[in-house]
Amino acid sequence: MSSLTNCTVSIIGAGGKMGTRISNNLIGKEFSLNLCEKSEEKIKAMTDRNLTITVMEEVVPLSDFVILAVPDIYIHKVSKEVSPLMKDGAVLITLDPAAAYADQLVVNDHCTSIVAHPCHPSIFLEKYTKEEYEDAFGGVAARQEVVVAVHKGDESKLEGAIELISLMYAPVEKCHVITVEQMAILEPTLVETITCMVGTLLKESLEETKKLGVPEEAAKAMLYGHIQIALSVALKGTNPFSDACMIAIELGKEAIIKPDWKKVFEKENLDYTIHKMLKLS
Ligand SMILES: NC(=O)c1ccc[n+]([C@@H]2O[C@H](COP(=O)([O-])OP(=O)(O)OC[C@H]3O[C@@H](n4cnc5c(N)ncnc54)[C@H](O)[C@@H]3O)[C@@H](O)[C@H]2O)c1
Repeated sequence: MSSLTNCTVSIIGAGGKMGTRISNNLIGKEFSLNLCEKSEEKIKAMTDRNLTITVMEEVVPLSDFVILAVPDIYIHKVSKEVSPLMKDGAVLITLDPAAAYADQLVVNDHCTSIVAHPCHPSIFLEKYTKEEYEDAFGGVAARQEVVVAVHKGDESKLEGAIELISLMYAPVEKCHVITVEQMAILEPTLVETITCMVGTLLKESLEETKKLGVPEEAAKAMLYGHIQIALSVALKGTNPFSDACMIAIELGKEAIIKPDWKKVFEKENLDYTIHKMLKLS
């Protein structure tokens, strides 16, 4: 029997992007599920799907797990309202480390706070079905891994929480238990400050080739194919870059990258980025 049987789970912000994805994966499971949402527009979309909206003040005190799927800039305000309502021993789950890292997440002393972030399906994932190929975000058909951290409270709550988190982001292959600080080094620094930034750089580079008169389809074909081979060589060492390519890489770094770019990993820079993201003064 699952440790979640007879549990009560509430999602705050159930009509948002993550709230919708998580609700879709938790509806119909062996526990009681409550969906809380404030926005009139989201409530209408949910009732159109025959979903029942519940009142946060009524369901949170009954809940074993409360999932905060609200934007990070509202986590402080919403957790201040939610935490005093939570019963002793309950678990508060947030979906991003920023608020916990920046001490913006309010947690009742008798509860446990856990952060769980999806890794998204790996670029190297072996996919077999059309559904897996279409599921770039994860949580539908493509397997992904998840990072989990106990922010505050009772570590023994982790096992049950991981069972729930594996359903929230299903299909999940593996959960990596790390610290909140380590998770913040991964997101934002590794995956947003660097990886997503590089993604936008690629898009802008594609636009530059268009301005130079290169046919768009040819440029896209070269870029998309080379993204795959560049990542396979750089990250997996499938085969070496050619000598000429290594020269182009070094010249590219000299022209584009600041020599001290790795300071984005320093705590001071991470704190600054998170303060900006949370719009803290
Ligand atoms: N969007 C992503 O790709 C993504 C990926 C991983 C993690 N996350 C994390 O998930 C969390 C939610 O982000 P999102 O992008 O889904 O946000 P979102 O803006 O799409 O949705 C947030 C929802 O919360 C609702 N809400 C706000 N205050 C509320 C309250 N007091 N009571 C009930 N509902 C309330 C809003 O109406 C909205 O429907 C954040 O912590 C974010 O960092 C997001």
